[in-house]
Amino acid sequence: MASQKRVLSGIQPTGDIHLGNYFGAVKAWVDMQKEFDCVFGVVDYHAMTMPYKPERLREATWTMTFQLLACGVEPDFLFIQSLVPEHAELAWILGCMTSYGEVTRMTQFKDKSMQVQDKDKDAFISAGLFFYPILQAADILIYKADYVPVGKDQEQHLELTRNIAERFNRQFGKDYFPLPAPYFTQTPKVLSPADPTRKMSKSLGEKHVINLFGEQEKMRKQIRSAVTDTGDTPAGEMSPGVANLFTLLKASGGVDASRLLMDEHVRGTLRYAELKEVVADALGVMMAPIQDRYRDILADKRTWKKRVQEASAHIRDRARETLREVHEITGLGALR
Ligand code: TRP
Repeated sequence: MASQKRVLSGIQPTGDIHLGNYFGAVKAWVDMQKEFDCVFGVVDYHAMTMPYKPERLREATWTMTFQLLACGVEPDFLFIQSLVPEHAELAWILGCMTSYGEVTRMTQFKDKSMQVQDKDKDAFISAGLFFYPILQAADILIYKADYVPVGKDQEQHLELTRNIAERFNRQFGKDYFPLPAPYFTQTPKVLSPADPTRKMSKSLGEKHVINLFGEQEKMRKQIRSAVTDTGDTPAGEMSPGVANLFTLLKASGGVDASRLLMDEHVRGTLRYAELKEVVADALGVMMAPIQDRYRDILADKRTWKKRVQEASAHIRDRARETLREVHEITGLGALR
């Protein structure tokens, strides 16, 4: 069998998976598993870049892990980042091969630190937040990944990863690290139901996200009260809120229903209340088996924790092998 291309991606343990995470990333991971040699990490080191509570972090890490499993991520492909501490070691080494200037150009750091300081001018901005793109580069390079499924917001970090890998290869005269390419999946951009001019994101507040693992009744209420008309949509065009409902309908498998309702929209006979019911029904059908699996996993947490701890240990063996080679190449590890 031809050797499969390697894929790596990571997700922060931020709390419940919402429809933006699911349609935008997690579903693509599940699909990629069939075709690639995949490794997916719950990146808890990354979650320390902002002030946090230790007990909350560990809980959020397991919640994210269980929810990913419920979504269909293969347990053997899943690891928890801090169970593979080699990530942090490689990040240090790569940090010494990255220029200060190129890290300062990362727009996510600038945006995030400004956002935080806008809210509170004395807010603590950690050096970890600044260093984070290098840890991300280590996440990717430690498994010598060929592809990284990323959204637009992560493109610059992947570019940095490539630059670091190239510099490492040049400096040490070897084609050691493959240069990872972005893997653009056809993921829909899911917007907030409460403000469909913005991307669905937890940082906007609870009412802006629909939880994949939340009560179905709550989901239905959120869809029913989704903003459809912002008043400034020219006649004959579709408002972002209505377009978002169609996005959700197609993404949740209601492609045929979407076509029919789209015809109605063109004819000018579409009733938003009807569209919303159809969307909520489709989401409900999609969510039910995922939520059932989640319930089963929670009923048997110990077994699943052990499973992921073992998978992490296996994945760690791969990471260790890379570090052994990196020590050799870079002159570390004075064993001889
Ligand atoms: N930085 C990514 C995010 O915030 C998460 C992440 C960490 C990641 N390490 C990664 C994504 C490696 C892809 C590859 O969404």
